[in-house]
Amino acid sequence: MPTKSGPSRRRFLTTGLVAGIAATTAKADPITDVQPWAQGLGKGVDERGYGMPSPHESHVLRKSVPWLVAETKSSINFTPLHQLDGIITPNGLAFERHHSGVAEIDPAEYRLMINGLVDRPMVFTLQDLMRFPRHNKVYFLECTANSGMEWRGPQLNGVQFTHGMIHNVMYTGVMLRDVLAEAGIKTEGKWLLAEGADAAGLSRSIPLEKALDDCMIAFKMNGEALRPEQGYPARLVVPGWEGNMWIKWLRRLEVGDQPWHHREETARYTDLLANGASRRFTWVMDAKSVITEPSPQAPVSHGKGPLVITGLAWSGQGVIPRVDVTLDGGINWHKARVDGPSLDKSLHRFYYEFDWDGSPLFLQSRAHDNTGYVQPTKDALRVIRGEVSNYHNNGIQTWAVYSSGEVENVEIS
Ligand code: CO
Repeated sequence: MPTKSGPSRRRFLTTGLVAGIAATTAKADPITDVQPWAQGLGKGVDERGYGMPSPHESHVLRKSVPWLVAETKSSINFTPLHQLDGIITPNGLAFERHHSGVAEIDPAEYRLMINGLVDRPMVFTLQDLMRFPRHNKVYFLECTANSGMEWRGPQLNGVQFTHGMIHNVMYTGVMLRDVLAEAGIKTEGKWLLAEGADAAGLSRSIPLEKALDDCMIAFKMNGEALRPEQGYPARLVVPGWEGNMWIKWLRRLEVGDQPWHHREETARYTDLLANGASRRFTWVMDAKSVITEPSPQAPVSHGKGPLVITGLAWSGQGVIPRVDVTLDGGINWHKARVDGPSLDKSLHRFYYEFDWDGSPLFLQSRAHDNTGYVQPTKDALRVIRGEVSNYHNNGIQTWAVYSSGEVENVEIS
């Protein structure tokens, strides 16, 4: 079962803000009476040198699902999608997945090696990398197994747990093609092996065509250095493709003439089909969307009347020109309003506002991408892929909203 209260609440409460919570409780009439926070001086400027959210937001946390977490060093936590808005994920809330814990790398000792089918094998320092022309791009990173538990029907009662293996930040970095050009790729070179510096040495084969197209080596996220759990000091960015390929703590790039077929692209990240055969090299994350609010962790608390439905849509193929929302489980579809920037391979934010009469709803959203592809139902995916898959579940999600305002993860078939 998902945890209801996160482990780091205690940590927040030890930061001297307990008194702040008690002192700022509104008294008497919230607008005509002078409130405690207006009766004296507030706190001075931040003494720790790094800003933290209001103590009233201390429940906004990454969370784990205990039965998925056998060992925290080889584990995962989830982005609290139901508590966020807009398209950018704050750095401290971006979901984590690691295979041998978070490598703590001294940037002065960081090195990136390029070897294999190149004219000049090279080793770069971080400063060397930062002297290539820099680029800024907002991209989503989705774990291939995001929503994977839901193949067998509704499992986890919260969008954080069903869809929270995704984040969307602005990366600052250099183009992989510029760095590879320095080493010079031999004409036989067709593939790239990217390898991490952590103890897992996680590695993936990437076709050179993609590497030379839009891949980046990033060292900043949302303007500040990558967080250690996101690959500090440098990670690979593979726009629109499955998150497992975005090698963190990037230490080596090898150019070869064929794929390596390492563990993470054979025993893992290969998709079993209904007929027992497997799909391999399923890199692109297809169009997907989900309503983030209302959702099981974000029920309707205000009763009937104006209700704002909001959610996220994305596609590894490009942009999302249209999102539909249904209130009745797919009988009638309404065009949602996409608000904010529509960027290539980035999360898109949508809204649908309506007057709720308090009757039960079956909420769904459906993304269309720029190729004309329309997000399928889970049943449509199961026809081809069977029921024991884990990866690439981009099926339509249903939330049942009850008259009480409570919301539940359900499936309609
Ligand atoms: Co795949």
